[in-house]
Amino acid sequence: MQHPVEQLRTQQNLSDGELRALIATDRYDSELYRAADEVRRERYGDAVFLRGLIEFTNYCRNDCLYCGIRAGNRALSRYRLTPDEILDCCCEGYRLGYRTFVLQGGEDPAFGDEVMCAIVSAIRDAYPDCAITLSLGERSRESYERLYLSGANRYLLRHETASRAHYAMLHPASMSADNRRRCLYDLRDIGYQVGAGFMVGSPYQTVDHLVEDLRFLQELSPDMIGIGPFIPHGDTPLRDFPAGELTLTLRMLSILRLMFPYVLLPATTALGTIHPCGRELGLKAGANVVMPNLSPVSVRQKYALYDNKICTGEESAQCRSCLERRIEAAGYRLVADRGDVRRA
Ligand code: 5AD
Ligand code: FES
Repeated sequence: MQHPVEQLRTQQNLSDGELRALIATDRYDSELYRAADEVRRERYGDAVFLRGLIEFTNYCRNDCLYCGIRAGNRALSRYRLTPDEILDCCCEGYRLGYRTFVLQGGEDPAFGDEVMCAIVSAIRDAYPDCAITLSLGERSRESYERLYLSGANRYLLRHETASRAHYAMLHPASMSADNRRRCLYDLRDIGYQVGAGFMVGSPYQTVDHLVEDLRFLQELSPDMIGIGPFIPHGDTPLRDFPAGELTLTLRMLSILRLMFPYVLLPATTALGTIHPCGRELGLKAGANVVMPNLSPVSVRQKYALYDNKICTGEESAQCRSCLERRIEAAGYRLVADRGDVRRA
């Protein structure tokens, strides 16, 4: 019988049972990491792509049970950046070599289509050579179309969990797994490069749920897949659940790299939060993107999706050079271009 890691790498056709077995054991971890790193190097070499993350509002109308910026968290001090402040972040980012900006925020009604399209157009005019990525949650198809026509290229919307039953345990009744899927398919149809993803070790998650996540991703075939460990936030209903595990997260990164050789896979801030070398370990397990923060230091602590988030005190330039050192020490090379997906 072929070794499961080799089988995944060469044929990508493991059955649900075989995937379940691979996810549930640490037996193959070093082989998984090695195979994932080889596949990533075949496709992308030693390049690690940079995305400048601008967390522009922590107002959110949603009440996801795990998230620190949920509407129900009255303890949080809220902020919004003005369009000029957002453009200042892009300006600083451009100076530091960033060619992709990720505008991420809660679902804030103050950023309706008029305001958001004006911001995207202004960035598009000022930086025609940059990719504009949006991460604004669930909106109507029409809204996604207008933003695309204003110049946005990419959209990140994690599906969070592909199991409808599990989704219902992590979200209020007002939200649905089906609407989230609708959003992802709309975004893909419109022409965005799309990023989906999920938390590892979220409350009530089982190995079967993770297999469902992989199957959903095969169906959607996204350009980017964002995963990171769940980390409890003290002011949320899920505060007493343990954080997701480092090794399980790394294993899932490697499995994703083997199943989706082309995909853009970030080593996330959450991974760097649960372990001092989490992001470096993520890169070695197959990740090829990092998303340092470009938000003003004055607001960083307020964008607290989970507790103990790293990089909240560092200036953008410090984060940029810190990451460059870390990436090179891990044996990779930081590349400051748009970093488009390489499907073929
Ligand atoms: N721990 C880890 N990740 C979280 N996110 C939200 N809350 C948490 C948490 N407590 C993730 C979600 C969301 C992304 C922006 O951050 O997956 O899609
Ligand atoms: Fe932000 Fe190191 S990456 S300080």
